[in-house]
Amino acid sequence: MPPPRLTPLRVLKAVLWSFVGVRRSADAARDLEAVPPHMLILGGVVVAAVFVVVVVAVVRLFIPRSDQPPVIQPQEARVENAPTVVPKTHEHVVVPDTMQERARPCTVCHGSATEVTADGFSPRIAGKPAGYLFNQLVSFRDGRRTYAPMVYLVQYMTDDYLREMASYFAQLELPYPPPAPLTLPAQAAARAQQLVEQGDPARLVPACRECHGATLTGMEPAIPSLVGLPKDYIGAQFGAWRSGKMRSVPPDCMAEVARRLAPEDVTALASWLASQPIRADMKPQPLRRDLPLACGSVTALAR
Ligand code: HEC
Ligand code: HEC
Repeated sequence: MPPPRLTPLRVLKAVLWSFVGVRRSADAARDLEAVPPHMLILGGVVVAAVFVVVVVAVVRLFIPRSDQPPVIQPQEARVENAPTVVPKTHEHVVVPDTMQERARPCTVCHGSATEVTADGFSPRIAGKPAGYLFNQLVSFRDGRRTYAPMVYLVQYMTDDYLREMASYFAQLELPYPPPAPLTLPAQAAARAQQLVEQGDPARLVPACRECHGATLTGMEPAIPSLVGLPKDYIGAQFGAWRSGKMRSVPPDCMAEVARRLAPEDVTALASWLASQPIRADMKPQPLRRDLPLACGSVTALAR
């Protein structure tokens, strides 16, 4: 009797017969005889692989995937320029209640020890006088400043908490960006320098340095430095004061100064200040009692 023809079905039968012991018909021994050993092994491997794939597919179908966290939609506070919130998958992480941990959400926008500001839009807060930072936080909470993500963050925080946070950021020492090159025409640069050092009696503008300190690094506890600020930021602050979008505790001396300046003065001041070199000592100076205009933000802290 000639050996039977070698078909895939026959190989399969032989494999099942020899490895698994399945026997469906009496001629199994004949099948086995006709199949060469290498075909038997190859067939065995193929059958085993198909079996594994089927088992895995069934398991994945019935058991929910556990390696993907549920997608948490960031809250409705999707505000322009707010960074995307990536949900973390940790569940029971014990976070030590230190100031550094509490400040972590702030550094997403305001920068941390490794970067100054993450998005180039949020102002630097590290190293600004504590009283100044505190005043700004209170202003967001109490409706004088309106940038929504900030208002949302500080809404329910107490004065003590805001004071602690302000002191934390005030003592951080981060490097400052290098000054921008001065691109102003000589006349505009001279006008800016005159406003900073002498003011303009004709417009009733006091010299900036009378309040911001002789070295322009600010004055304790509530007046910030004018050195180390980007040009666009200074321009935007003046715009906000002039339009009333940014307010401080009345009498709001800085809003008053901003309104007394001509628009071209503001442009010149922003460029000139941004080009000033960073000082070796960027610490604010001690407060002088006789400010040329009353500043509610300064007296509010003395109360
Ligand atoms: C979504 C980004 C974002 C987060 C998070 C954030 N800030 Fe702000 N913050 C800003 C922006 C933008 C401004 C400027 C808004 C404006 O001009 O009114 C600002 C302004 C401030 C100011 C005023 C600075 C100045 O010189 O005028 C302070 C102080 C401040 N933030 C502190 C904090 C603290 C503390 C936290 C954490 C509790 C925090 N911020 C979290 C974006 C953010
Ligand atoms: C009468 C005092 C006084 C004078 C004069 C004054 N400033 Fe100010 N300035 C302040 C105070 C106070 C603040 C903080 C404002 C607040 O708390 O709302 C401030 C804040 C600022 C800021 C914000 C800095 C930051 O980090 O956000 C800029 C910019 C500024 N002043 C520029 C100037 C310039 C330029 C001049 C001169 C033309 C000037 N100031 C004159 C009192 C003064």
